[in-house]
Amino acid sequence: MAKKEGYRSRASYKLKQINTRFHIIRRGDAVVDLGAAPGGWTQVAAELAGNHGRVVGVDLQSISSIDGATTIVGDIRSEATLDAIRQVARSADVVLSDAAPNLAGDWSYDHARSVDLAEHALGCAQKILRPGGNFVVKVFQGDLFPGYLQNVRVLFRNAYSHSPMASRKASAEMYIVAKMFRGDKGATSTRDPTNVRNASNVPGVPRSLKSTRGDRGGRGRGRGGGDRKDPGDSI
Ligand SMILES: C[S@@+](CC[C@H](N)C(=O)[O-])C[C@H]1O[C@@H](n2cnc3c(N)ncnc32)[C@H](O)[C@@H]1O
Repeated sequence: MAKKEGYRSRASYKLKQINTRFHIIRRGDAVVDLGAAPGGWTQVAAELAGNHGRVVGVDLQSISSIDGATTIVGDIRSEATLDAIRQVARSADVVLSDAAPNLAGDWSYDHARSVDLAEHALGCAQKILRPGGNFVVKVFQGDLFPGYLQNVRVLFRNAYSHSPMASRKASAEMYIVAKMFRGDKGATSTRDPTNVRNASNVPGVPRSLKSTRGDRGGRGRGRGGGDRKDPGDSI
């Protein structure tokens, strides 16, 4: 259905549903979409922001051109990528991140890497969002989820965890929808390791944490112990 309607991914519907419910993107907005390939969210963001908006899609993989959007190949964990984003949009009204690691199949490890990406997305949002701006980020559930949500709550006036209908029922993914960025004043950096609890050692993941259980029991999600069937959701 996504292809029929001209979208590059089924994920497009997740952003549409999130926006219908939370009114994240408005006409004329500058939107930065992190982990954007193949470009479904970027397409939706460009539609919602309209002709007077500005949309930047960023991914490790190249994204073929999208009307009304600029695309950047880069790692969202690098400062060089942030500089490249800033050249296109100095300040953003909205930062989105649907970034996800390549799944290794080890639920705890995949969860920790998802949280690590989400932390980088939050760090990026902290640097480029205007005060009052909005942030949406995907995180695989697990015991780091509540700590991460708490970090988001420090920076935004409102933050909700949300699972759009378009996410698969067996998926571990959850979206955090955060509104009204408080600006940098008084906010401690969430990249500060002292802000993160429950650290354990997962190779290859800086400051990663071990998972036991997420903060949301519904739909059979969030259980630790490696019994996950589907740690992520395909696009
Ligand atoms: C689920 S897909 C995104 C789908 C997209 N929202 C759409 O609608 O088409 C996740 C993406 O995150 C990207 N990604 C993972 N780690 C990344 C990183 N460190 N920097 C940039 N992109 C990353 C992957 O390359 C992948 O394309």
